[in-house]
Amino acid sequence: MRRHDVKLFLDTANIQHIREAAEMGVVDGVTTNPTLISREDGEFEDIVREICEIVGGPVSAEVVSTDADGMVQEAEKLAKIHDCVVVKIPMIKEGVKALHILKEKGIPTNCTLVFSANQALLAAKAGATFVSPFIGRLDDAGHVGMDLVREVLAIYENYGFETEVIVASVRHPLHVVEAGVSGAHITTMSYAVFEKM
Ligand code: E4P
Repeated sequence: MRRHDVKLFLDTANIQHIREAAEMGVVDGVTTNPTLISREDGEFEDIVREICEIVGGPVSAEVVSTDADGMVQEAEKLAKIHDCVVVKIPMIKEGVKALHILKEKGIPTNCTLVFSANQALLAAKAGATFVSPFIGRLDDAGHVGMDLVREVLAIYENYGFETEVIVASVRHPLHVVEAGVSGAHITTMSYAVFEKM
Protein backbone atom coordinates (compact mmCIF):
# COMPACT_ATOMS: atom_id res chain seq x y z
CA MET A 1 0.00 0.00 0.00
CA ARG A 2 1.40 3.39 -1.01
CA ARG A 3 1.77 5.58 2.07
CA HIS A 4 3.53 8.64 0.69
CA ASP A 5 5.85 9.79 -2.09
CA VAL A 6 9.42 8.53 -1.87
CA LYS A 7 11.88 11.37 -1.48
CA LEU A 8 15.61 11.26 -2.17
CA PHE A 9 17.97 13.88 -0.77
CA LEU A 10 21.64 14.41 -1.53
CA ASP A 11 23.95 14.68 1.47
CA THR A 12 26.48 17.13 0.05
CA ALA A 13 27.19 20.82 -0.47
CA ASN A 14 28.85 20.28 -3.85
CA ILE A 15 27.00 22.48 -6.34
CA GLN A 16 28.12 20.54 -9.40
CA HIS A 17 26.95 17.22 -7.97
CA ILE A 18 23.64 18.71 -6.84
CA ARG A 19 23.10 20.27 -10.24
CA GLU A 20 23.86 17.02 -12.07
CA ALA A 21 21.47 14.99 -9.95
CA ALA A 22 18.79 17.69 -10.00
CA GLU A 23 18.85 17.71 -13.81
CA MET A 24 17.75 14.06 -13.67
CA GLY A 25 14.64 15.14 -11.77
CA VAL A 26 15.17 12.73 -8.88
CA VAL A 27 16.44 15.00 -6.10
CA ASP A 28 13.85 16.36 -3.69
CA GLY A 29 16.16 18.06 -1.21
CA VAL A 30 19.65 18.35 0.23
CA THR A 31 21.21 17.88 3.64
CA THR A 32 24.43 19.65 4.52
CA ASN A 33 26.54 19.86 7.64
CA PRO A 34 29.46 22.12 8.58
CA THR A 35 31.99 19.51 7.44
CA LEU A 36 30.39 19.16 4.02
CA ILE A 37 30.21 22.94 3.53
CA SER A 38 33.83 23.42 4.65
CA ARG A 39 34.93 21.25 1.71
CA GLU A 40 33.49 23.72 -0.83
CA ASP A 41 34.74 27.12 -2.01
CA GLY A 42 32.64 30.17 -1.20
CA GLU A 43 30.74 31.81 1.63
CA PHE A 44 28.42 29.65 3.73
CA GLU A 45 25.29 31.70 2.99
CA ASP A 46 26.00 31.86 -0.75
CA ILE A 47 26.44 28.09 -0.95
CA VAL A 48 23.21 27.41 0.94
CA ARG A 49 21.28 29.93 -1.18
CA GLU A 50 22.55 28.44 -4.44
CA ILE A 51 21.65 24.90 -3.33
CA CYS A 52 18.14 26.11 -2.45
CA GLU A 53 17.73 27.71 -5.85
CA ILE A 54 18.83 24.52 -7.63
CA VAL A 55 16.71 21.99 -5.74
CA GLY A 56 13.68 24.10 -4.79
CA GLY A 57 13.01 21.71 -1.90
CA PRO A 58 14.11 21.32 1.74
CA VAL A 59 17.80 22.17 2.29
CA SER A 60 19.17 21.46 5.75
CA ALA A 61 21.73 23.91 7.12
CA GLU A 62 23.15 23.14 10.55
CA VAL A 63 23.67 25.33 13.59
CA VAL A 64 26.95 25.18 15.51
CA SER A 65 25.79 26.61 18.86
CA THR A 66 25.27 24.18 21.71
CA ASP A 67 22.83 26.28 23.76
CA ALA A 68 19.16 26.77 22.86
CA ASP A 69 19.30 30.57 22.65
CA GLY A 70 22.32 30.46 20.36
CA MET A 71 20.69 27.80 18.17
CA VAL A 72 17.50 29.86 17.85
CA GLN A 73 19.45 33.00 16.91
CA GLU A 74 21.39 31.08 14.27
CA ALA A 75 18.19 29.44 13.03
CA GLU A 76 16.52 32.82 12.53
CA LYS A 77 19.47 33.97 10.41
CA LEU A 78 19.58 30.72 8.42
CA ALA A 79 15.84 30.84 7.73
CA LYS A 80 16.27 34.28 6.14
CA ILE A 81 18.67 32.91 3.51
CA HIS A 82 15.89 31.18 1.53
CA ASP A 83 12.38 29.74 2.04
CA CYS A 84 13.75 26.23 1.41
CA VAL A 85 16.12 26.31 4.39
CA VAL A 86 15.48 23.75 7.11
CA VAL A 87 17.49 24.29 10.27
CA LYS A 88 19.46 21.28 11.45
CA ILE A 89 19.48 21.00 15.22
CA PRO A 90 21.54 18.43 17.16
CA MET A 91 19.82 15.92 19.44
CA ILE A 92 20.98 17.24 22.79
CA LYS A 93 18.84 18.65 25.63
CA GLU A 94 19.38 22.23 24.47
CA GLY A 95 18.55 21.11 20.96
CA VAL A 96 15.18 19.76 22.07
CA LYS A 97 14.43 23.14 23.69
CA ALA A 98 15.40 24.87 20.46
CA LEU A 99 13.16 22.53 18.41
CA HIS A 100 10.22 23.51 20.59
CA ILE A 101 10.92 27.25 20.27
CA LEU A 102 11.45 27.01 16.50
CA LYS A 103 8.20 25.09 16.08
CA GLU A 104 6.43 28.00 17.78
CA LYS A 105 8.20 30.44 15.46
CA GLY A 106 7.24 28.41 12.36
CA ILE A 107 10.84 27.65 11.37
CA PRO A 108 11.23 24.12 9.94
CA THR A 109 13.79 21.87 11.62
CA ASN A 110 15.71 18.67 11.05
CA CYS A 111 16.76 17.00 14.29
CA THR A 112 20.12 15.42 13.52
CA LEU A 113 22.43 12.93 15.24
CA VAL A 114 19.57 10.68 16.34
CA PHE A 115 20.75 7.30 17.60
CA SER A 116 17.74 5.94 19.54
CA ALA A 117 13.97 5.65 19.22
CA ASN A 118 13.45 7.65 22.39
CA GLN A 119 15.51 10.51 20.98
CA ALA A 120 13.30 10.43 17.88
CA LEU A 121 10.21 10.44 20.09
CA LEU A 122 11.45 13.52 21.96
CA ALA A 123 12.28 15.28 18.69
CA ALA A 124 8.78 14.67 17.33
CA LYS A 125 7.11 15.71 20.59
CA ALA A 126 9.14 18.93 20.55
CA GLY A 127 7.88 19.64 17.03
CA ALA A 128 10.72 18.68 14.67
CA THR A 129 9.73 18.77 11.00
CA PHE A 130 12.26 16.06 10.14
CA VAL A 131 14.29 13.61 12.19
CA SER A 132 17.55 12.03 11.03
CA PRO A 133 18.50 8.61 12.42
CA PHE A 134 22.20 7.98 11.67
CA ILE A 135 22.13 4.39 10.50
CA GLY A 136 25.66 4.07 9.11
CA ARG A 137 27.27 5.21 12.31
CA LEU A 138 25.11 2.72 14.24
CA ASP A 139 26.21 -0.05 11.88
CA ASP A 140 29.82 1.07 12.39
CA ALA A 141 29.36 0.59 16.15
CA GLY A 142 27.98 -2.95 15.85
CA HIS A 143 24.23 -2.18 15.81
CA VAL A 144 21.69 -2.65 13.04
CA GLY A 145 20.96 0.93 12.06
CA MET A 146 17.85 0.08 10.07
CA ASP A 147 16.23 -1.42 13.20
CA LEU A 148 16.15 2.11 14.57
CA VAL A 149 14.40 3.42 11.46
CA ARG A 150 11.73 0.71 11.74
CA GLU A 151 11.16 1.50 15.43
CA VAL A 152 10.86 5.22 14.79
CA LEU A 153 8.41 4.71 11.91
CA ALA A 154 6.27 2.42 14.09
CA ILE A 155 6.18 4.92 16.96
CA TYR A 156 5.33 7.84 14.67
CA GLU A 157 2.61 5.76 12.98
CA ASN A 158 1.09 4.72 16.33
CA TYR A 159 0.72 8.28 17.50
CA GLY A 160 0.18 10.12 14.23
CA PHE A 161 3.28 12.29 14.37
CA GLU A 162 3.80 14.31 11.19
CA THR A 163 7.59 14.41 11.62
CA GLU A 164 9.22 12.88 8.55
CA VAL A 165 12.04 10.37 8.89
CA ILE A 166 15.25 11.07 6.93
CA VAL A 167 17.42 7.95 6.80
CA ALA A 168 20.88 9.50 7.23
CA SER A 169 24.51 8.45 7.49
CA VAL A 170 23.87 6.19 4.51
CA ARG A 171 26.97 4.23 3.49
CA HIS A 172 25.92 2.18 0.45
CA PRO A 173 23.03 1.52 -1.97
CA LEU A 174 21.71 -1.37 0.13
CA HIS A 175 20.87 1.17 2.84
CA VAL A 176 18.74 3.00 0.26
CA VAL A 177 16.94 -0.25 -0.60
CA GLU A 178 16.33 -1.03 3.08
CA ALA A 179 15.08 2.50 3.69
CA GLY A 180 12.61 2.09 0.83
CA VAL A 181 11.40 -1.27 2.14
CA SER A 182 10.92 0.24 5.61
CA GLY A 183 8.70 2.98 4.18
CA ALA A 184 10.87 5.81 5.50
CA HIS A 185 9.83 9.16 4.05
CA ILE A 186 13.29 10.22 2.86
CA THR A 187 16.79 8.86 2.33
CA THR A 188 19.73 11.24 2.16
CA MET A 189 22.90 9.99 0.49
CA SER A 190 26.30 11.12 -0.70
CA TYR A 191 26.82 11.67 -4.40
CA ALA A 192 29.00 8.53 -4.40
CA VAL A 193 26.09 6.38 -3.20
CA PHE A 194 23.75 8.13 -5.65
CA GLU A 195 26.09 7.29 -8.53
CA LYS A 196 26.24 3.65 -7.46
CA MET A 197 22.44 3.53 -7.67
C1 E4P B 1 22.80 13.89 7.36
O1 E4P B 1 22.06 14.87 7.41
C2 E4P B 1 24.23 13.95 7.68
O2 E4P B 1 24.82 15.06 7.05
C3 E4P B 1 25.02 12.73 7.26
O3 E4P B 1 24.19 11.70 6.78
C4 E4P B 1 26.06 12.34 8.24
O4 E4P B 1 26.57 11.09 7.98
P1 E4P B 1 28.04 10.63 8.31
O5 E4P B 1 27.93 9.49 9.26
O6 E4P B 1 28.60 10.19 7.01
O7 E4P B 1 28.78 11.80 8.91
